[in-house]
Amino acid sequence: MGVVVVLDAAADPAGYWGEVSLGTCAIDIWIADAAQLRKGYGTVMIENAIDRCFHVHSAHTILIDPLAENEGAISFYPHLGFDVIGPRTFGADECLFLELRRPDSGCD
Ligand SMILES: CC(C)(COP(=O)(O)OP(=O)(O)OC[C@H]1O[C@@H](n2cnc3c(N)ncnc32)[C@H](O)[C@@H]1OP(=O)(O)O)[C@@H](O)C(=O)NCCC(=O)NCCS
Repeated sequence: MGVVVVLDAAADPAGYWGEVSLGTCAIDIWIADAAQLRKGYGTVMIENAIDRCFHVHSAHTILIDPLAENEGAISFYPHLGFDVIGPRTFGADECLFLELRRPDSGCD
């Protein structure tokens, strides 16, 4: 039905995520079947991925990079606790970076 990927952002050889510290993960999520949207599946998928980032990979921060025009996705992340960092441009793509800090990470 869809895919969710957990990435080690700090280990990305292309440096896509910029200057990030060890313990920074990124998540990519995609539900391919439009008939399955807005049924809560995305929330379950990303909650599992968030739990995996924090408790299996010991991440302190999770990054997400929806396209700036992807208003649906941008509406999806705040209810999960993600905060907007700001816009980033990658080639022709205008993205919006959001982050979620592990509550006990001590990061501001
Ligand atoms: C983003 C995505 C994973 C969300 O998954 P989902 O299963 O549709 O979302 P949920 O049903 O769990 O939504 C939870 C809440 O998020 C918000 N939300 C989710 N999709 C939204 C949309 N398109 N527009 C506005 N709010 C949205 C709503 O508050 C929603 O609660 P509600 O339906 O009770 O109002 C899914 O839309 C998707 O895969 N889209 C295509 C690929 C994509 O854009 N991926 C993200 C790339 S960064």
